[in-house]
Amino acid sequence: MRNATGYAATMAHTEINADDAVLVFGGCYSNLQATEALLAHAARRSIPPNRMVCTGDVVAYGADPAATVALVRDAGMHVVMGNCEEQLAAGAADCGCGFAPGSACDLLSGAWFAHASAALDGSALAWMGALPRQIDLQIGRFRLAVVHGSAGVINEFVFASTSTAVPPGYDGVVAGHCGLPFTRTVEGRLWHNSGAVGMPANDGTPRVWFSVLSPGPDGLAIEHVAFDYDYRSAAGAMRQAGLPEGYAGALETGLWPNCDVLPAPELAARGAPISPATLMWTGSDLGRPVTAASPAFAGASGR
Ligand SMILES: [Fe+2]
Repeated sequence: MRNATGYAATMAHTEINADDAVLVFGGCYSNLQATEALLAHAARRSIPPNRMVCTGDVVAYGADPAATVALVRDAGMHVVMGNCEEQLAAGAADCGCGFAPGSACDLLSGAWFAHASAALDGSALAWMGALPRQIDLQIGRFRLAVVHGSAGVINEFVFASTSTAVPPGYDGVVAGHCGLPFTRTVEGRLWHNSGAVGMPANDGTPRVWFSVLSPGPDGLAIEHVAFDYDYRSAAGAMRQAGLPEGYAGALETGLWPNCDVLPAPELAARGAPISPATLMWTGSDLGRPVTAASPAFAGASGR
């Protein structure tokens, strides 16, 4: 992985202490319409910005990088730095995902990255560059590390099927970057990804995702929420801006234009609609889903 940045193990992290529901989201990807819909959901659930945490990549493929940054920044919610924020703030030439030169993702990312670079002013870039790389979320009796890729590599893709590790001292990790919603265990600890707000989950539907974590006497309830928004306007704005058709079309079809990063199980699940689900994390295992769950939420445990 090029541009991978290790985190200093001794660095003090931003802390959030919550004994009530926390809304987790990530991957707004410059999709203003989806981000506005997300905030409306938060308001309906009476979850204030100081109990909202973003796993990064506020900016990417979409048409409205500046307005999306302003919406998230001005609301005052907690945000960890994604690789897109890191690269844009550093004045880099691409998003830092590590795509092979000349690959479809590399070519697509070059177009949106240039669009975002041109749209963001110094204030937005300074905000992005100052974001923490990790937030420690103490929610009820659980201590979770909120990061972008993995706890140590900002651009590592961690899926339900891939090996990873929870750092010592934490009950689990809340991560983003890979764009798919899932909850799994890793050697008896939690790994949670809310999925993305700004791009569908490659499941053949235009829905996008966030999560709500609610502490209670039985453990931590983890609700994966899918929501609809005005994806036609978001896709239209991308076309108007001259951005690649691949990602604009993906907002409508729910299918990613390129699946190079996907492991075989996630690739096999492409186009299969994911069902929203609520799971209960007891501190050692995941209870049976409260609502009907897709295989994505059963995840791969114990790896
Ligand atoms: Fe990312």
